[in-house]
Amino acid sequence: MLKKILLPLLLACCFRTLAADCRPTHLQCEYLTDPLGIDAPAPRLSWEMDDPRSGARQTWYSLVVGTDSAQVMGGAGDAWQTGTIHGAVQLVVYKGTELHSFTKYYWRVVIGDSAGLASAPAMGSFEMGMMDRRNWRGGWISDGNDMTVKPAPYFRTEFAVGKRIVSARAYIAVAGLYELTINGRRVGDHLLDPMYTRFDRRLLYVTYDVTADVQEGRNCLGVLLGNGWYNHQSTAVWHFDKAPWRNRPAFCMDLRLTYADGSVETVTTGKNWKTALSPVVFNSIYTGEHYDARKELPGWNTVGFIDTAWKEVVWRSAPAETIVAQAMAPIRAAVVLHAKTFTRISDTDYVYDMGRNIAGVSSIAIAGEAGTVVRMVHGERLSADGHVDQSNINVHYRPTDDSDPFQTDIYVLGKADGVQRFQPRFGYKGFQYVEVFLSRPAVLTPASVEASFLHSDVAAAGSVASGNRTLDKIWEATNNSYLSNLFGYPTDCPQREKNGWTGDAAIASETGLYNFDGITVYEKWLADHRDEQQPNGVLPSIIPTDGWGYEWGNGPDWTSTIAIIPWNLYLFYGDTTALSRCYDNIRRYVEHIDEGYPTGLTTWGLGDWIPVKTKTPVELTSTCYYYADVMILAKAAELFGRTADRQRYLALAEKIRAAFTAKYWHPSLGIYDEGSQTQLSVALYWGIVPDSIRAKAAAALARRVAADGYHLDVGLLGTKAILDALSENGYAGTAYRLAAQETYPSWGWWIVNGATTLYENWPIDAKSDISMNHIMFGQIGAWLYKGLGGIRPDPAEPGFRHVIVEPHFVAGLDHFEARHRGPYGLIGCAWRREKKRVRVEVVIPANSSATIVLPGRRMEVGAGIYRWELAAALVH
Ligand code: BGC
Repeated sequence: MLKKILLPLLLACCFRTLAADCRPTHLQCEYLTDPLGIDAPAPRLSWEMDDPRSGARQTWYSLVVGTDSAQVMGGAGDAWQTGTIHGAVQLVVYKGTELHSFTKYYWRVVIGDSAGLASAPAMGSFEMGMMDRRNWRGGWISDGNDMTVKPAPYFRTEFAVGKRIVSARAYIAVAGLYELTINGRRVGDHLLDPMYTRFDRRLLYVTYDVTADVQEGRNCLGVLLGNGWYNHQSTAVWHFDKAPWRNRPAFCMDLRLTYADGSVETVTTGKNWKTALSPVVFNSIYTGEHYDARKELPGWNTVGFIDTAWKEVVWRSAPAETIVAQAMAPIRAAVVLHAKTFTRISDTDYVYDMGRNIAGVSSIAIAGEAGTVVRMVHGERLSADGHVDQSNINVHYRPTDDSDPFQTDIYVLGKADGVQRFQPRFGYKGFQYVEVFLSRPAVLTPASVEASFLHSDVAAAGSVASGNRTLDKIWEATNNSYLSNLFGYPTDCPQREKNGWTGDAAIASETGLYNFDGITVYEKWLADHRDEQQPNGVLPSIIPTDGWGYEWGNGPDWTSTIAIIPWNLYLFYGDTTALSRCYDNIRRYVEHIDEGYPTGLTTWGLGDWIPVKTKTPVELTSTCYYYADVMILAKAAELFGRTADRQRYLALAEKIRAAFTAKYWHPSLGIYDEGSQTQLSVALYWGIVPDSIRAKAAAALARRVAADGYHLDVGLLGTKAILDALSENGYAGTAYRLAAQETYPSWGWWIVNGATTLYENWPIDAKSDISMNHIMFGQIGAWLYKGLGGIRPDPAEPGFRHVIVEPHFVAGLDHFEARHRGPYGLIGCAWRREKKRVRVEVVIPANSSATIVLPGRRMEVGAGIYRWELAAALVH
């Protein structure tokens, strides 16, 4: 055995001297670290090159994939051996022998440094999941109750293990939400699993390694099912209570046990399971959860519990044909907050201020009499009398009675003594304040209530720090709102709607990608798009949807997500997968607009939503989005070698541009339409402005902003465009004055008034549309990296293989730094004014290169750390 491992290693070492400074790191499969339960027949493998040397680049790589870890480490793989492949590629699509379900594969990568010397090997793994629905053994089961029944169902079964287990995997597919336990212990740390999809078209299953949870002898599996978006019992304007998929939650599970003797046994869902109603007497992802601790069934999920009073389960048909692996960042509790202030209004009424606005849940620890009812009301603000005020967020809720209060959990104490704890499992809320009402007096302390910030647990990918505290706080607030709106799909707000509004997500995607490694969430959400697209190309304005949104709000200004997000993924990750999966969908979408609007101008859309004051014709903004989609399609066609498509869409783009210019450009005035901030900046940002008039339009925009006193006069579409439109056309200083503005209307105005998240409206006291946790004005989070740090991906060598770094040393700011971790590693740009100089430092990671543009010079560089001192005279 030892020989088997050592020999290839020794041989490798003899042929090439090892490059001590170079090693592959950050090995990922499908953008996850050592994932389990992968369904992709040809998974993507990627790594980073860690090599601190200047100019470091990868000259070759060699991959080995196989099922025997020792052999793979030694350089021999039974699934794939690429041999030495020359080049800098760090993202490879698997092309070995067919991968088998339930099989764990190890992969080893060795890379060559600039001189061709081999690195030490690095190893990762991935394990295939079901791959094919025919591999499921269990049946879909439910408790047989009607979808209107409120209490959540428990399910349990026991099974015996007579042999030593070497590996155990739980595969669980759920229509609804679940909590899985083995022998009374909760499995995994995911919350609100599985992610929301169009349940009647595509469901996600989750895989867990439960080897340590299953014991020899008897075992008990326990499952609690929640409603989630599958069985929406609350009533609101979008009618999710009438969703075509709606039903009582159901699930299917296979527990696959591999024994030491090589045999495999699967414990499945079927008639061997029993069911009973749980103490979760009501649960709604939209409004709250009600839990009656008096109904607890101690020991229900452990061996030996007497379940004779429990009912038989019933078989159910699978809710969807397609059941695929949930290969993405799960929702987790990222941060736990403690009360910043605590007010005792009376001995039955307490108010907690958690210090910042979040999406998530609160929990309570309380001692009190059995039967005491605890109502926990959540909101983003307080009314003048100090109570939680929900008037800004409950406007679209349509309750039919008072049994399901908005953003409120209801907990009934079950024991006479001791501290009891409650935290809801199947919902979340948007809140900063929690008001606790008790039906009988009890003593609460500041520590009695905690809050957990929940969101898709995507890794941080960027950071910003500057000499302007307001700017830094805007960046933090943008990230808070971005994460508060990331729950397996991007949402508009975590309280009032929780809807996957396409427009908001299109705007936030660049901000998201500079700051977080969110590709897995976006790829999943693009699959949701493909599920929802009509054959004629039309997409709904919210995704996923019960059917709402095909009639309203779904023009190109919102649903261009189908083109913009795949393109952004291509720019940020250098990966064409999303673009190629969505290619036909983008094409059908564009063709649909062309059929309906043969002149090239389209009036389809909502326009510049929630503007400060100036309104912009919908046709102006929607046509720019239409143009952008067509250009993305033409570029994608070029990438995929579809020459005829490329020509067709370039010609279509020209038609749109010509019609747009003819109608909106006033040559004598040098403006589009009336020359407002949105009108000029949307045209500039989306590239419809011909080069010949670009400088004129940008100058007009800068003049307009100055005339507006460096205050915003934009809505949602204008905010997306304005800062970049300025800084990319020579007016970074103007963009900065706008971005750092602290008086109304501006981002800074929110911050100086205490905001920790972004709002939905510019006036803080707006009478409507004033959610306090919206991401739709969040492009500023991307602009900081670009407009001040100057870090941009290069479409010609995407994924930051080649980086453009063009920082702007704007007047009024004495230092700024931005770091972004791209597929090649950490990119950084920092600058600082010191006396009469500006010091600049740029970091370019191994195996990539950059064009660095500083005042008066332009340099092509490889990996490394670069420093300059520029005379201040040059930079003003
Ligand atoms: C949402 C938005 C969304 C808009 C569409 C609102 O209710 O919260 O953010 O984009 O509707 O008009």
